[in-house]
Amino acid sequence: MTTPDVRWPRASGPLELRPATAADLDAVLVWRNRPEVTRWFINTVVDPDAFRARWLTAVDDPKDHSAIAVAGGDVVGFGTLELDDGLGQTHGDPANTRLVEAQLGYMIDPAHAGRGYATALARGLLEVAFEEVGVRRVTAGCFAENTASWHVMERVGMRREQHGVRDSWHAELGWIDGYTYALLADEWMPGAAADRCSASAGDERIRDGTSPVRDDEEPDRGADPGDHDDPEGRDRKHRGGALFTSRT
Ligand SMILES: CC(C)(COP(=O)(O)OP(=O)(O)OC[C@H]1O[C@@H](n2cnc3c(N)ncnc32)[C@H](O)[C@@H]1OP(=O)(O)O)[C@@H](O)C(=O)NCCC(=O)NCCS
Repeated sequence: MTTPDVRWPRASGPLELRPATAADLDAVLVWRNRPEVTRWFINTVVDPDAFRARWLTAVDDPKDHSAIAVAGGDVVGFGTLELDDGLGQTHGDPANTRLVEAQLGYMIDPAHAGRGYATALARGLLEVAFEEVGVRRVTAGCFAENTASWHVMERVGMRREQHGVRDSWHAELGWIDGYTYALLADEWMPGAAADRCSASAGDERIRDGTSPVRDDEEPDRGADPGDHDDPEGRDRKHRGGALFTSRT
């Protein structure tokens, strides 16, 4: 699940983050398959045995830095952080792109929502990614309808880089839009995660100097995906947001 480069357990705002135990996974499985949770995932209902096995067999995987989030002794959620290769041309040294990125995901027990836990969890795993693992870029994805989720991404400073128009099938809503967010290492503020976790959402926007895009604003989407030389590869990356993988 991780490497000696990463310190566990670790604090992130009100949370303790640490690798999962079997008991933690049982606690997660109490709410993981509830409709208000499955509604926001491509991989909706999980088989409990397969879910446990995926987490517990990942213990020795140096590409996986996923963690359970604990507050006041309760398991309140979990986050996934999985290393991935960056995009790049096929000739030249493959080491340039190998495992230079990570995909971030998070899930909070509905009974503990609205307390800043997902925000603290995302920040804690960004800190792991940039300050301990040393990746150059972190990405995350969600359905556009999942406002609470992309608000979390923007609160931690991630940038909306892709808006997929009706690119995702949703059993209840039909074809809906999807977003991909990203943050580069040199945009991350080293050592600031714990400090920022203690700030209110409004305060931290001012302190970070960021201006998150809200529902009623047009985001800066960065480069036009159509400009990319490898639209197929780019799409593959966009569709690979951690929130859309089987790991959650
Ligand atoms: C979406 C989800 C991750 C949000 O988790 P959360 O812990 O409720 O998120 P936060 O508490 O950090 O933020 C939620 C809201 O609470 C507010 N909030 C309340 N107390 C807060 C505090 N102490 N500190 C910071 N924010 C606080 C935030 O401002 C935010 O408001 P906003 O959505 O208007 O911006 C969670 O509801 C969830 O797991 N849902 C089901 C699965 C899912 O959708 N996962 C993501 C898939 S892409």
